[in-house]
Amino acid sequence: MVYEPAEDTELMAGCVRSVVRGRVLDMGSGNGEQTAAALSNAATTSVVAADIDPDAIAHLRTRFRDEKRVRVIHSDLLYNVKRRFDTIIFNPPYLPQDKGITDIQIYGGKHGYERIIHFLDQAGNHLAPEGQILLLWSSLSKPRVILDHLEKRLYTYEKIAETHISFEDLFVYRITKNKVRERIEKQGIRSLMPFDRGKRGWILTGMKGKTKIAIKVANPTSEASGRLLLEAQWMKRLNRHGIGPRFIASDPDFVIYAFVDGTFVLDYLSEASRKETLVVVEQLLDQCRMLDTVGVSKEEMHHPVKHVLVSDARGVRVTLIDFERTHPDPHPKNVTQVCQFVNGMLRAHLLKVGLEIDSATLLNLAKQYRHRFDETSFRAIKDYILKRGAKPLS
Ligand SMILES: Nc1ncnc2c1ncn2[C@@H]1O[C@H](COP(=O)(O)OP(=O)(O)O)[C@@H](O)[C@H]1O
Ligand SMILES: [Mg+2]
Repeated sequence: MVYEPAEDTELMAGCVRSVVRGRVLDMGSGNGEQTAAALSNAATTSVVAADIDPDAIAHLRTRFRDEKRVRVIHSDLLYNVKRRFDTIIFNPPYLPQDKGITDIQIYGGKHGYERIIHFLDQAGNHLAPEGQILLLWSSLSKPRVILDHLEKRLYTYEKIAETHISFEDLFVYRITKNKVRERIEKQGIRSLMPFDRGKRGWILTGMKGKTKIAIKVANPTSEASGRLLLEAQWMKRLNRHGIGPRFIASDPDFVIYAFVDGTFVLDYLSEASRKETLVVVEQLLDQCRMLDTVGVSKEEMHHPVKHVLVSDARGVRVTLIDFERTHPDPHPKNVTQVCQFVNGMLRAHLLKVGLEIDSATLLNLAKQYRHRFDETSFRAIKDYILKRGAKPLS
């Protein structure tokens, strides 16, 4: 049975008639009401009507047989869609799943929004610059969650229609990429996906050619933008010393850099061999010494649990991330802070592979390093931690 037009159909069709333009994709076209609505506006140049249901496809082919501007395709969401569109219409299954009912024409997943979110992830790559999405949902499909997902994907939105029906409200939103997303995509980045909402910034991932990249965007509710420019500068500068993920591009609202396919240091160490543990700790110490030598403090190195990633695809490699608090420092504290980390949180991991750290000895070595700040006192720390062989300096 092809989905019968109902209140949601008419609400969406009204919006389509007034704002549609250019090349149009009618996703989940069903019996073709939105395609017909799009065709009624001269601003529409062509329509691709897509549906997953073979009966709907057959119906659409018949209905639009004589309409040269329409092409009908079979597609599960956007999997078979190739091109970019100025308007994408999606009047989706939006109700939370009722037990035992699996009608894909009506139900949108367990909570009613899953299919919408999946659609949004795909739609970014199919929107022409300044393209728009017309999306309908119900007060029962957790609107706040959907809006939150839109924000994390750097979309802006406005409600352009609503209506009340028996137990719910229906809304149509007009959604576009926000300016920051447009600028990120101008750098040749595609397939943006939210990754993590950090303290000060939001992290997204994307693809630049075949390279997976990370993008840190200023959290719109914080005053982070000056910080991002600084972070970009530090990343560029520290890259020359082999520190940090590879910097790619930046602007006041974002930093683009290589994605590190790694594991947080404590998670990595909890499953690492003795050899791997030694390599990680050595690289960590060496990179902190490098920071000291350059004359900057990264900050938070006594607790870098979220800022040290370990990847081991091609040999074990430690990457420090997050340079938002990095600053020039005549007395840099990276090595001494990381000694605190070794002495505290790493102690058990080192013990597990047979390295027993004596707190007093290590802290004493760290103190001597702080005074001398030279290669010899740094070596003494390294040897003590990694070999427990060196005598404390006299
Ligand atoms: N290049 C990257 N590769 C992989 N994960 C990253 C990368 N950059 C950031 N992350 C992840 O995002 C989180 C937040 O990033 P971070 O730079 O610390 O931003 P914030 O300023 O929000 O703390 C990190 O803890 C890490 O999980
Ligand atoms: Mg952080």
